[in-house]
Amino acid sequence: MNLIPEEFQISSLIIQDTYLVNGELKKWTGQTTPVFSTISSTEKYEPTLLGSIPFMGETEALEAVEAADVAFNNGQGLWPTMKVVDRIKCMEKFVTQMKNTRSEVVKLLMWEIGKTLGDSEKEFDRTVEYIYDTIESYKELNARSAHFSKVQGINAMVRRGPLGVVLCLGPYNYPLNETFSLLIPALIMGNPVIFKPAKHGVLLISPLLEAFRSSFPKGVINILYGRGREVASPVMKSGKVDILALIGNSKSAIALQDQHPNKNRLRLVLGLEAKNPAIILPDADLDLAIQECIAGSLSFNGQRCTALKILYVHESIVEEFNKRFASKVDALNFGNPWEKGVSLTPLPEKEKPAYIQGLIDDATSKGAKVINAKGGQHSANYIFPAVLFPINKEMRVYHEEQFGPVVPVITFKDIQEPLNDMAESNYGQQVSLFGKDIKTIAPLIDTLVNLVSRVNLNSSCQRGPDVFPFTGRKDSAVGTLSIHDALRSFSIRTFVASKDNDYNNEILQALLNSKESNFINTDYIL
Ligand code: G3H
Repeated sequence: MNLIPEEFQISSLIIQDTYLVNGELKKWTGQTTPVFSTISSTEKYEPTLLGSIPFMGETEALEAVEAADVAFNNGQGLWPTMKVVDRIKCMEKFVTQMKNTRSEVVKLLMWEIGKTLGDSEKEFDRTVEYIYDTIESYKELNARSAHFSKVQGINAMVRRGPLGVVLCLGPYNYPLNETFSLLIPALIMGNPVIFKPAKHGVLLISPLLEAFRSSFPKGVINILYGRGREVASPVMKSGKVDILALIGNSKSAIALQDQHPNKNRLRLVLGLEAKNPAIILPDADLDLAIQECIAGSLSFNGQRCTALKILYVHESIVEEFNKRFASKVDALNFGNPWEKGVSLTPLPEKEKPAYIQGLIDDATSKGAKVINAKGGQHSANYIFPAVLFPINKEMRVYHEEQFGPVVPVITFKDIQEPLNDMAESNYGQQVSLFGKDIKTIAPLIDTLVNLVSRVNLNSSCQRGPDVFPFTGRKDSAVGTLSIHDALRSFSIRTFVASKDNDYNNEILQALLNSKESNFINTDYIL
């Protein structure tokens, strides 16, 4: 019996048998990899087969490199030299087509990564909005650069230009939004892209392939399938990648960088691991802190780089905090992503429950207890969130980024304790600070802003809104992403300068009047 409501059923298998290279959806006849969902469609649990994707290798990887390299053509290609307004038109064409794929992509987000219906819709809509905002921001950047400045007898028009070929790799937890937060600014700034979808959340790219193909000139966007080792490695080894844009873990980022023969030429735009702490001060509003810590640690089962991954609670309030926090965790509903009122959903990685169990076993063997009744309960594709207390530095869960449903709680007496731990940590993305007394909070904020890149006062950590800078210190990031900053991360300042004399000025004026140059141009795009 099929237990899935009709509108969310997968009517037929999605056999992805094409890949996008050099402006063509090429047929794939080689080896394939099945794509399973950990969600069961039958009463007796079994993973659901969703379809299959190509298992590509070096040949296809190098084909994509060649296509992107030709599209850039050392900066002489059609795309990097195109008028800003024309690149924007291509992007608008893409997003218009993309909007028609919403229900299909949302359905696949639920099946492939288990994201709730509401959050899947949010991911799609946020991505569309991100594209429109990026277009507006690019127009503004263009308008601000559309003039000459005269300094020390030199006239200059300073703009931003593309860097070259981008290898774009996104994470499975936001396979659409985070990937596109790299892909879209990279493209719009004039760079050709090679994109390989994440390990989960692959089939949801299929409905977008035709939109990509028909919106951009050939070779500007190339989409490959397969494993990182087989596909991304040859791309990097070719030495033709100018930007590695990756949201994922530092191990893969380092391995890929190391394969580039000319590392000095490689720009990095990376969003990596984090272990964001919450610090709950004695005067914190406990209702608010608990509500924010629940959302912060467990939305999308804790599979967010911005998730709260360790809670520091002042010893004077820990008993009360734990009691109320644990009972709120147990009240969370587990179910399939389309079910009403669910906040906990199947884990897309089938090995994740065992990994989380390993963290629990390690912590409990070293003195922690699971303080919520349902903590650690297993089902076929899930492990119920365990709240672990008290945590110490001997435990794996103190150090490892769990990226899943387990919440470690640690106490402190003196605020210097969490500060020292954060200073020692390899991560430095964000922190949540709960408290009220400004005499305590003021000096703390002044320190915390230097330990991480965003201090969330009385609220959980998050990336959005996308106009704010998203970055991190130490091993958590390289470069900054936001609508504004990403345009800068994927481009370089470049300009035309000439001595201020009649001879040169006449030429510049003629260039401006003729509109022959796409660079020396003062057109405003409204
Ligand atoms: O996985 C990390 C994401 O950047 C988190 O974004 O805070 O919007 O969930 P979010």
